[in-house]
Amino acid sequence: MVTAAKNGAALTLSGVHKNFGGIRALSDVSITVPEGRIVGVIGPNGAGKTTLFNVITGAFHADSGSIVTAEQIITRWPPHRIARAGIARTFQNIRLFSSMTVWEHLLVAQPRQGASLRNLMPIRWANPEAARRAEDALSFFGLEPYRTAIARTLPYGIQRKVEMARALTSDPKLLLLDEPVAGMNYDEAEDLRALLVGLNQRGLSILLIEHDMTFVMSLCHEIYVLDFGAVIAEGSPNKVRNDPVVLDAYLGAEGAC
Ligand SMILES: Nc1ncnc2c1ncn2[C@@H]1O[C@H](COP(=O)(O)OP(=O)(O)O)[C@@H](O)[C@H]1O
Ligand SMILES: [Mg+2]
Repeated sequence: MVTAAKNGAALTLSGVHKNFGGIRALSDVSITVPEGRIVGVIGPNGAGKTTLFNVITGAFHADSGSIVTAEQIITRWPPHRIARAGIARTFQNIRLFSSMTVWEHLLVAQPRQGASLRNLMPIRWANPEAARRAEDALSFFGLEPYRTAIARTLPYGIQRKVEMARALTSDPKLLLLDEPVAGMNYDEAEDLRALLVGLNQRGLSILLIEHDMTFVMSLCHEIYVLDFGAVIAEGSPNKVRNDPVVLDAYLGAEGAC
C-alpha cells in the first residue's frame, strides 16, 4: 500500500501509467521532486511531459500508479483539492482571461479563498490576505507597471510572468512550470532564471518542463528525460547531458522539445 511517507520529497510519482485510446502517453513513470529542489523534465515533442503535469494536477487521472506529496496521497484527487494541497502550475499555452487586468488575475486565482459567493463579487471585496499575496507576487515578478493593464494585451514574456505570479498567489509548496521560457528572448529568460532561483531559495520546490537546454542545465538540480511516455534517463545535468540514450532520443527526434 502507498503511504505519504515523510521522505523529504515534495512529490513522488510511482509507476504512473496514462493511455489515451491506443496512445501510451505515460508508461510506468516514477519521478521524485525532493523538497527544496528544482527538477527538470525534458524530452522530444509528444514524449508525455504535459500529460505528466496533467495527471499530477488532476486534470486527468492516472490509469494506475500513485502520486504522493510530502503529506498526502493525492492520486485521483480533483484539481481544486490538489491545488489546496500546495501544488500550482502554469500552462504551455498561456491561459489568461481576455478582459481581466493583471491585478484581477492575481486576485481571483487563489484557491484558498474558497468557492464562495464572495468570489463572484467585484474584486474590491477580495480578502486582505489574498490582496497581500497578490501584491507580493506582483512585486516579486516586477509586474507593478502592468497592474491595471489587460493581461492578454501584454508582450508574451510578461504574460508568462503573470501566469507564474498567479500560480504563486496560492502560496504553493511545489510549482509546476510547463515551458516557462517559450517565446522569451535571452534577456527575459535570464531574468526569469534569477527569479526562479530566488523562489527556490525561499524554499519552493519546482518541477519544470523546458526545451531550452541551456536554461534547464543551468537551473535544475536533477533532470528526468521522457521519451514515448517512459523515463529513459535521470540524474544530474552533467550525467544526462552525456548519456548516449538521451543523445539518441534527441537525434532521432525532429525538433527536440
Ligand atoms: N487529451 C488528450 N487526448 C488524447 N491524446 C492526448 C491528450 N493529451 C496528450 N495526448 C497525446 O499524448 C502524447 C503526449 O502528449 P504531451 O503530453 O502533450 O507531450 P509533450 O508535452 O511531451 O509534447 C501525444 O501523443 C499526445 O498526442
Ligand atoms: Mg507539452
